[in-house]
Amino acid sequence: MTCTLLMRSSRRICIETIRRYLPASSKMIYSAAGRNLDTASAPQSHCGTKYSDRTLTSYRTYHQQSSVAVETRPQVWLITGCSSGFGRRLVTSALARGDRVIATARTVEDIKIPSSPNLNVLQLDVTAGFEVIKARLDQAAKIWGQIDVLVNNAGAGYLGMLEEGRSDLLEKQFKVNVMGTLDVTSAALPHLRASKSATVVILGSRSAYTTERAGLGFYSASKAAVHSLGETLSVELAPFAIKVLIVAPGAFKTEGIYRQSFFTANSIPAYDELRNIAMKRFSAVPGTQKGDPDKAMETVVDVVKGEGKAKGRPWPLYLALGDDADEGIRQKSTKLLRHVDEWGDVIKGVNFDP
Ligand SMILES: NC(=O)c1ccc[n+]([C@@H]2O[C@H](COP(=O)([O-])OP(=O)(O)OC[C@H]3O[C@@H](n4cnc5c(N)ncnc54)[C@H](OP(=O)(O)O)[C@@H]3O)[C@@H](O)[C@H]2O)c1
Repeated sequence: MTCTLLMRSSRRICIETIRRYLPASSKMIYSAAGRNLDTASAPQSHCGTKYSDRTLTSYRTYHQQSSVAVETRPQVWLITGCSSGFGRRLVTSALARGDRVIATARTVEDIKIPSSPNLNVLQLDVTAGFEVIKARLDQAAKIWGQIDVLVNNAGAGYLGMLEEGRSDLLEKQFKVNVMGTLDVTSAALPHLRASKSATVVILGSRSAYTTERAGLGFYSASKAAVHSLGETLSVELAPFAIKVLIVAPGAFKTEGIYRQSFFTANSIPAYDELRNIAMKRFSAVPGTQKGDPDKAMETVVDVVKGEGKAKGRPWPLYLALGDDADEGIRQKSTKLLRHVDEWGDVIKGVNFDP
């Protein structure tokens, strides 16, 4: 199988990496970009702290990219929340590229994917707590001796007015979408570090940007939180050449994300009108989403593998998916830029007097 291995590296590390991962018979084709890898420049420090030579080399590994087409072994994916939606489709897409997949779900019987020698299933509730998750992931890593791509896909959406849902609903929401993501990632990282060619994918959402919508506060806060975690992880994992991809889909026609009913257990009459408008708006969405989840997950696999639509492109920290995601990001960015433009003198006028 020929695939494109994204190499971001000095020539020395590049060759070491290729030696480590490729059988002796592998074909290796250097691109024009690949020949200049020794001239790589990397930041010398982070937040005032000087990097060691080893870290600098790893930084080059992360931040430089050549298109070295190689014959390589299949990657091993571990994907959470594979009983439906994006997760299920991602399993199918990764298998179709010849990769191996450990598909996880709260109930393994719910994973309805045709069996394959490249597919293993594992029970995993992302809210089970770090120790339980770690034991599961250690078990998963033994299946094929590695984990190369972790996809934090499992998620839920709790809708409700903030004052009515309070921190109880926020905690419930964060337990799945945020704590779950961090626990699974933390448990996977020792295995991903051993892979030396690893990727962490986080299913965020354009809701991280379109936060000014009544009823969406719990969900959008959880997605903004995982976007933020992903951004920091990208820096903390750069020394290990582990890539991070924050996927921000708009509205896609999956099976279960609107499964939870709008929270009404603690209704405050003052919100009746706004709550009703919000409930009506959200209940009209399922079935009308323009996004095709099959196409979306094919694109994620393209990016992770540097194939198809992603071939020859630099690694993106973000992958927005859908016209509505594009629009949401533009609106948010424009609004923030307008603020710093219009209020610049105030914003910059609060330092101590010289
Ligand atoms: N569809 C969209 O429009 C959209 C847009 C932006 C972002 N996203 C994100 O994409 C991801 C997948 O959503 P989807 O649209 O594919 O929805 P989905 O069809 O409801 O799939 C969600 C998956 O997460 C699983 N899950 C929920 N809680 C879990 C837990 N505690 N432990 C393990 N698995 C759990 C569900 O499993 P069970 O069957 O066991 O509940 C299900 O397999 C989510 O993170 C979602 O926020 C979706």
